[in-house]
Amino acid sequence: CGKPDRKPARQRLLVVANRLPVSAVRKGEDVWHLEISAGGLVSALLGVKEFEARWIGWAGVNVPDTVGQNALTKSLAEKRCIPVFLDEEIVHQYYNGYCNNILWPLFHYLGLPQEDRLATTRSFQSQFAAYKKANQMFADVVNQHYEEGDVVWCHDYHLMFLPKCLKEYNPSMKVGWFLHTPFPSSEIHRTLPSRSELLRSVLAADLVGFHTYDYARHFVSACTRILGLEGTPEGVEDQGRLTRVAACPIGIDSDRFIRALELPQVQEHIRELKERFSGRKVMLGVDRLDMIKGIPQKILAFEKFLEENPTWRDKVVLLQIAVPTRTDVPEYQKLTSQVHEIVGRINGRFGTLTAVPIHHLDRSLDFHALCALYAVTDVALVTSLRDGMNLVSYEFVACQDAKKGVLILSEFAGAAQSLGAGAILVNPWNITEVANAIGQALDMEPEAREKRHNHNFLHVTTHTAQEWAETFVSELNDTVVEAEIRTRE
Ligand code: G6P
Repeated sequence: CGKPDRKPARQRLLVVANRLPVSAVRKGEDVWHLEISAGGLVSALLGVKEFEARWIGWAGVNVPDTVGQNALTKSLAEKRCIPVFLDEEIVHQYYNGYCNNILWPLFHYLGLPQEDRLATTRSFQSQFAAYKKANQMFADVVNQHYEEGDVVWCHDYHLMFLPKCLKEYNPSMKVGWFLHTPFPSSEIHRTLPSRSELLRSVLAADLVGFHTYDYARHFVSACTRILGLEGTPEGVEDQGRLTRVAACPIGIDSDRFIRALELPQVQEHIRELKERFSGRKVMLGVDRLDMIKGIPQKILAFEKFLEENPTWRDKVVLLQIAVPTRTDVPEYQKLTSQVHEIVGRINGRFGTLTAVPIHHLDRSLDFHALCALYAVTDVALVTSLRDGMNLVSYEFVACQDAKKGVLILSEFAGAAQSLGAGAILVNPWNITEVANAIGQALDMEPEAREKRHNHNFLHVTTHTAQEWAETFVSELNDTVVEAEIRTRE
């Protein structure tokens, strides 16, 4: 996407994502407690004053009874959120199954599940059917709330079938779809049994957005090779109808992080952390506990570094925050045990009676504790095996203007394309290379650190989440106007 050259008029925006930006906890038959989860998408849209956003998505809880559903719908309305109610079976087949056991690993180059072929085919078919059904349920809710002139912005791999469902309801609906994960090489996408149906559904949108040019290019190649359509510099053309395809990288609300560092409670956290780890360099990893994040590989690289650099053993500590996620999916359960086993072994090997080299936490931290942790870190390790963008790298940079620590960043994260020049780029599969990068980062001279940090800080504070959201919506509006002009001609 290019920069918006004119601001769209205040317009209603229906943001459709698998998950609503709030978590709901039931406190009584018709009483719900809601907590806003301030992820990138939420802060991006809160910061944009040009449109009035409403959210449509799954509340993340099973609410089988009408009393509970009505009460939750009412509470959510106050937060401009509209729920889609999915029952347990659909969640199991659509969310745990098709989304997180098939599409997620495939789009991150981990391939399709390897179980017994027949069983996979059977479960694949029922999971795909549930995926389509769930997408249709999202479409029904969007359609009930849609008003002429609204912009509908669909998000992520959970909702690839949604653009088609929406256009079937109303061909003049303005529909954008944005993918937060990588879109893999067409050679990977073509292994997916439902490859064509998914591509065609996405192409029903007016604008399709990705974090990087590579992902956009892969998508266009998949459409040309698998569907035999024509790729143009603007996107993909099918019988005279153009679907715009654009690279439109997300950012963060950097001011929110920078401002938080001034708060007394964050300053207090910083003081405690400095005291706790005084005399040691702090290395930090913050990831969802997901295969794509490369946590075992990262920890093994740290072990190799300690093995080869005995003088550093009591002078450095790795703090790994691993936030549990998708815990009903067996692959994620296996990963948790694997990580615990490796951490235990390394701490047993290099720990002393008073200190351990790795502090591993299986939970999230609150925003203020996280900002403090970013601020005291000397070296951040973002070593995903694949990652759509990775905003942890952005958050770290935003909190480092005083310390100017070093970012070690996977070349397979979308962020490598924007922060690559200021980071040490690594191949996360190469444990020796990552171990060497740790040494290089810890020994880096202040001038070199400052130069790298300044490059990244400028990027993170300029290309913000707000800019991303404004750009996408403005591009979507323009795309629809251009299509109307073309039709009239
Ligand atoms: C990734 C996806 C998001 C998803 C998030 C958390 O960043 O791109 O769409 O919401 O992970 O995963 P979860 O399965 O807990 O929603």
